[in-house]
Amino acid sequence: MARDKWFETVSIAQERAKKRIPKSAYSALLGGSEKGLTVNGNNAAFNELGFAPHVIGALEKRDMATTVMGQEISLPVIISPTGVQAIHPDGEVAVARAAAARGTAMGLSSFASKPVEEVVAANPKTFFQIYWLGDRDAIAARAERARAAGAVGLIVTTDWSFSHGRDWGSPKIPEAMNLKTAIKMMPEGLTRPRWLFEWAKTMKPPTLTVPNQAAKGEQGPPFFQAYGEWMGTPPPTWEDIAWLRELWGGPFMLKGVMRIDDAKRAVDAGVSAISVSNHGGNNLDGTPASIRALPAVAEAVGDQVEVLLDGGIRRGSDVVKALALGARAVMLGRAYLWGLAAEGQAGVENVLDLMHGGIDSALRGLGKASVHDLNAGDVLVPDGFVRALGAPES
Ligand SMILES: Cc1cc2nc3c(=O)[nH]c(=O)nc-3n(C[C@H](O)[C@H](O)[C@H](O)COP(=O)(O)O)c2cc1C
Repeated sequence: MARDKWFETVSIAQERAKKRIPKSAYSALLGGSEKGLTVNGNNAAFNELGFAPHVIGALEKRDMATTVMGQEISLPVIISPTGVQAIHPDGEVAVARAAAARGTAMGLSSFASKPVEEVVAANPKTFFQIYWLGDRDAIAARAERARAAGAVGLIVTTDWSFSHGRDWGSPKIPEAMNLKTAIKMMPEGLTRPRWLFEWAKTMKPPTLTVPNQAAKGEQGPPFFQAYGEWMGTPPPTWEDIAWLRELWGGPFMLKGVMRIDDAKRAVDAGVSAISVSNHGGNNLDGTPASIRALPAVAEAVGDQVEVLLDGGIRRGSDVVKALALGARAVMLGRAYLWGLAAEGQAGVENVLDLMHGGIDSALRGLGKASVHDLNAGDVLVPDGFVRALGAPES
């Protein structure tokens, strides 16, 4: 009998991912930094928010379609860019196909394992993500390559703080994949024979290079070389952001905004969207959960930019909570990575279906016809939940 690939929650996908991929790869997805305060806080904060459902008044049909940065999407959930998708041979291409199959957009990391051209071919609704790495010419070249490939928006992520210590230990990621590394990693690989077999079928081991940091058609530098260059690049200023936005000219998101004052400066710099985000808790540990920062940021910028949220979204009801508190849509990180690690493209589709089903169920319970009708009155927010970071009086 064929194996039932379907899973009913993201938690189950995570459990399956843990069993399917090598321990170090699983640990790389888990991420977090320092004590893990922020990564755990992102998830836990959603538990504090409740719903106020109606007993009668549910509507027969519920509408979930919206737009993000000019792209029509069938549900208010898009793929957040993540750089560790070589956990699966099809990596970002599998994710892009899954997102396209479910009618949504894909954020592609500049540290992705697949070239932007292949990803856009799989999903034309691709936003290319850029880190501030190298000089302006190098950054412009990367953006222009993405444009030429057909990327329909740019996501600029500037919140990375190079925090590398974890109390539970970091995975050992090899510098390069060669015979020596393969032999060294073999014992770990042998504990996951199915995963090994999937890679063996491709006849190509993971390259651990970053093709989108180079010119089209080139293999790209090894991950750690690019990472080192990034560490050595002076951090961007608001003028740099305004420059890149001007150069790009199209839909442009600044990802990682947690403060009201930064959100307002992002508006001044001309961005079209922001993501209220702490990089999934992989950064400056002790930063509050992004959902706590969302209401004040959304209120401060109003309709001037699109406000998205990422961090801790694991079910459709989390999406509804974020929308009720001011987000236009959310971006998924680990949730789809667990799906990818567990079941490849089908696993990512499964995760998006869980989001769809969960949003639909919450809308029904709340008696809402559309995601556009959600507001703060639909959720119970305990006193002291919201953190207004960078508010004028603080
Ligand atoms: C393993 C991993 C790699 C990531 N790589 C990137 C990246 O390359 N670029 C980026 O902008 N964000 C990156 N992120 C952050 C995600 O885009 C997103 O902000 C975060 O995962 C959201 O939190 P969640 O995982 O709880 O959904 C990464 C996150 C994880 C877990």
